[in-house]
Amino acid sequence: MQDARTAGAVVAFEHVSKRYGGPDAPHAVTDLSLEVPAGEICVLVGPSGCGKTTTMKMVNRLIEPSSGRITIDGRDVADLRATDLRRGIGYVIQQVGLFPHQTVGQNVATVPNLLRWPADRIRGRTDELLELIGLEPNAYRDRYPAELSGGERQRVGVARALAADPPVMLMDEPFGAVDPIRRDRLQNEFLRLQAQVRKTIIFVTHDVDEAIKMGDRIAILRQGGVLAQYDTPAAILANPASDFVERFVGADRGLKRLSLARVGELELLPAVTARAGEERADARERLGATGAPDYALLVDGAGRPLGWIAVADLAGDGPIEPDLAVPGAPTVQPETTLRDALSALLGSSVQLGVVVDAVDRVLGLVSVDAISERLREPIA
Ligand SMILES: Nc1ncnc2c1ncn2[C@@H]1O[C@H](COP(=O)(O)OP(=O)(O)OP(=O)(O)O)[C@@H](O)[C@H]1O
Ligand SMILES: [Mg+2]
Repeated sequence: MQDARTAGAVVAFEHVSKRYGGPDAPHAVTDLSLEVPAGEICVLVGPSGCGKTTTMKMVNRLIEPSSGRITIDGRDVADLRATDLRRGIGYVIQQVGLFPHQTVGQNVATVPNLLRWPADRIRGRTDELLELIGLEPNAYRDRYPAELSGGERQRVGVARALAADPPVMLMDEPFGAVDPIRRDRLQNEFLRLQAQVRKTIIFVTHDVDEAIKMGDRIAILRQGGVLAQYDTPAAILANPASDFVERFVGADRGLKRLSLARVGELELLPAVTARAGEERADARERLGATGAPDYALLVDGAGRPLGWIAVADLAGDGPIEPDLAVPGAPTVQPETTLRDALSALLGSSVQLGVVVDAVDRVLGLVSVDAISERLREPIA
């Protein structure tokens, strides 16, 4: 594991244009200049066909620019051999592209193998990465991609991209194919990972909320690959540079502001918990001391939420059975945006969300009231 120093490199676009075809062909990217600081996530966002993928693929030269240049830490990528360049750039795409006939371990080891690392170094790195993305190496190393869920495959794709410790990562709609709840989890996990590895990341999405959540900076492109605005999410929401940007980020800028704030910034309410397997009498005694709530959160032996139970159901003797809990309490994480937390709560028609950490242990509760309180604060 690395320390908090950035391991990324500065990526700069200098007057980059791309036309597919001759000089009469329309521009896919027009005179694009922007600099991504080392260790930051730059999100490219804009409507379909606005040149996001083209812009990204010019960095690892899957596409060559028609004019202009791209540098990584000051070196023109056109001066590097494409194969060498690509080994130094992690690449994650939506359909992951894992090799189906290779195990998870072999997939993650693709680039180290190409670089002819010794076998024990490859094995060590593979296990380290599987742990980093939250897949237990002994359980996952020898499985095949078909034996994984979509989210797990996506995480293996991220591990493979990180394998040779590249300073730069390109990610094209990496979470586009996952459902909203899984996506929130994968985004949170990725933000925690990035806090450790500090790569320079160019991240493509067409979802403004994802851009606001993931980006240190956002580049908004419009048709023809024209840069409409490049700034931090907060600055773009506060001061959209044009009508196009204003329309693109949406009319509900107040609500969008909720995407800037995270659950972890709110003061969480303490969760009154009972533990499955605990003696009912012990739980009653403890709950009595907390001012007799009507409901308690039932957790399993590892502190993971199972659902809510009515305190009245804790009468009698014997241990609390896990199936007493009414499941369905939405869980969110400290990294979840207030906007996503609000939609999770409104979508499940409960007033309280359970905040859990990376391994699903309960940290506290977040209420609709606390979120709407934040919404009422004046726009900075
Ligand atoms: N190989 C190609 N040959 C010709 N035109 C292309 C090629 N690839 C892309 N284009 C065109 O270039 C423009 C930009 O395409 P690009 O794939 O970069 O857009 P995008 O922003 O990634 O879109 P999406 O959100 O749909 O993925 C589009 O008009 C597209 O039709
Ligand atoms: Mg695209």
